[in-house]
Amino acid sequence: MPNANWITVDDYGFPGGWTNASESDARALALCRQLEAGQILFFPKLPYDFPSDEREFLLSREWNELRLHKNVSYRPAGDVLRGFSGDHEAETRLHHVLRNYSAHVVEFLRDFLRPYAGRWTLDFASFRPFEEEGRDLPLHKRNDLLHVDAFPSRPTRGGRILRVFTNLHPTKARVWHATTDFGWLAEKYASGAGLERFAANNNFVSRGVSRWAAALGWKKLSRTPYDRFMLRFHDYLKENGDFQTTCPKLRIEFPPLATWMVYTDGVAHAAMSGQYAVEQTLLIPPEALAAPDAAPYRILERLARRPLIS
Ligand SMILES: [Fe+2]
Repeated sequence: MPNANWITVDDYGFPGGWTNASESDARALALCRQLEAGQILFFPKLPYDFPSDEREFLLSREWNELRLHKNVSYRPAGDVLRGFSGDHEAETRLHHVLRNYSAHVVEFLRDFLRPYAGRWTLDFASFRPFEEEGRDLPLHKRNDLLHVDAFPSRPTRGGRILRVFTNLHPTKARVWHATTDFGWLAEKYASGAGLERFAANNNFVSRGVSRWAAALGWKKLSRTPYDRFMLRFHDYLKENGDFQTTCPKLRIEFPPLATWMVYTDGVAHAAMSGQYAVEQTLLIPPEALAAPDAAPYRILERLARRPLIS
C-alpha cells in the first residue's frame, strides 16, 4: 500500500513503545511535522493496549439500537456516553469499554506524539459499528463523499483536528479515499466556497473573546471567520459533484486491527466501506503546532490576504 501521503510507522509498538528510545524525541517531532503536512501515519498492529475481550464485546452484536444516531460518542472530559439507546447492561459495558479505549489511546499519544502532550484539548471518541458502504444519510452527513472535517459544535479557532482510527473488524478492511495536501485543495476550491466573503466579514471577535464565548457555550460568537469558512468548505466539497468525481484521490485499505492517524481538517477523506471502527479526536492549538505554516488557517490566510483567526 505504499504511496505519497502514507507512512508506515515501524519503530513504535505495543508493548514497548519506541524501538530506539534515545531518538524518540527527534522522531516524534519529525512525525508531528509530517502529520501536519498531510501525511497519514499507519500502524499495521495495535500501537496501544486494547484487551481482546473488550474488542470482542464491540463486535459481538449488530448494535441496531444505535441506528437513530450516526455514531456513538464518548466524551472523556465529562465521562459521558452519547448516542446509545438500549438496555442498561449493554450501555454500562459499552461505556466502560470506550472509557478504557480513550484512556489507552491518549496514553499512547502522550508518548508517540510527545511534542503535543499536555497541550491538546481532548475531544470526543467514537464507535462506528455500521457498514459504511451504502449508508442512507443526508448529503452533508455522508461519510463516502470527500470532505475536510469541521465541527459545528466545537470551533477550533485555528486549532487542528487530529483523529486516530482503529479498524476493529476481524476480517474486513476499512476503505478510504483521500486527496493530496490542503494547499492544493484550497487553491483550487476555497474561492468557489466563498473564502473572500468569509474573510471580509467584519463580524470578528478576538481569540480571547471567542475563547470566553466558547467557555460560556456561545457557539456562534466563538466561531472565527476560519471556523465559519471551514464549516462551509465541508458542505461545499460534499455538494460539489465535479470535485467528487475528478479530484485525484488515493484508495487506501486499512486492514483488520490497523491503526492510522491523520489531520482530517487538512486531508480530504471519505470512508467508502468498512464496519466496526473506533476513533479518538484531539484538537491541537495553533501554538502547539510543529509545522504552523501547513495549518489550514495559515494557508487560507495567505490566499485571502487577511487574518482569519485574530
Ligand atoms: Fe470526516
